[in-house]
Amino acid sequence: MRYVSLFSGGGGLDLGFERAGWEPVVCVDNDPVSCETLSHNRPDWNVVCDDIRNFDATPYRGVDAVVGGPPCQGFSTAGKGDPNDPRNFLWREYMRVVSEVQPRAVVIENVSALTHRRNGDHLSGIMDALEDQGYTFAYGVLNAANYGVPQGRRRLIVIGVRDAEASLPLPTTADRQPTVGEAILDLADLPDDPGFNHVANRHAPHVAARWSMLAPGEDDPNYRRSRLDVSKPSMTIRAGGGYGPSGNHLAGFHPPIHPTLPRQLTVREAARIQTFPDEWILRGPKTIQGRQIGNAVPVNLAAAIGAHLVSLLERPSPA
Ligand SMILES: C[S@@+](CC[C@H](N)C(=O)[O-])C[C@H]1O[C@@H](n2cnc3c(N)ncnc32)[C@H](O)[C@@H]1O
Repeated sequence: MRYVSLFSGGGGLDLGFERAGWEPVVCVDNDPVSCETLSHNRPDWNVVCDDIRNFDATPYRGVDAVVGGPPCQGFSTAGKGDPNDPRNFLWREYMRVVSEVQPRAVVIENVSALTHRRNGDHLSGIMDALEDQGYTFAYGVLNAANYGVPQGRRRLIVIGVRDAEASLPLPTTADRQPTVGEAILDLADLPDDPGFNHVANRHAPHVAARWSMLAPGEDDPNYRRSRLDVSKPSMTIRAGGGYGPSGNHLAGFHPPIHPTLPRQLTVREAARIQTFPDEWILRGPKTIQGRQIGNAVPVNLAAAIGAHLVSLLERPSPA
């Protein structure tokens, strides 16, 4: 099974699809560092580092699927959520690529806020475009923790298929969600290792002292961050932006607080919570590494979607 990967980022969706037996014929992203990550880890992948608006997909006509998560900053409830953010309209480019490739299947991933009423025009635009192009589709908000990911992360997944019946993958770990402890505790005593994306932040002593007092799962309202609980899934790992002591918005990577140490997670620990394999190295400065991780579809969720898509396409088509 071959597919066109759009908005590939740091490769979470692609790694999951690879695990499910898919092969990307091309990965498109306009962020040079994300492209570097993809090429560094998979030198054989055809990575096109360009704006999707410049991408001609006609050479890929007939490939089995088009897969990707258009940027979501304008929709996200975590960001400012500007309805006129031009990035909100990139799904039209996604659908233009679909019309050029004419695949049997499409997968669109986005933040659950796309289902909110104020973003409704975009979601109905996507659905109308799928219908116009002859797809039936299923969509819903899936929680990654129900698909083998130690993280509560709710994301909208749209699966569209031609000549088949669309549905979403069933949960696999709803009754036993993986925990933070299982995912990261073995890394706690590891020394800093930049080549492994594992470099601990040196927080100011008063911040470390404050965080060392937090109980598992307790929130620090000043910094709007919580300490993780080893016995539960993590809260959502976000791409960027955090809060300073007076509620001021900060750029950068601000993941949750480690469950047993008075510091935030390293990029590697956040990558584990996103179920990236340790062999996958994030390129770029630490903040950009973190952004790629926070933006990613958790690999285990992506693998569940990829495997489900194979089963849909292999089923005999409905009469
Ligand atoms: C949500 S992230 C994708 C994450 C990825 N699916 C994963 O699982 O790791 C969205 C990506 O879209 C890329 N992007 C944003 N605007 C773009 C554009 N105009 N053309 C191409 N890529 C774009 C960003 O660089 C970012 O990597």
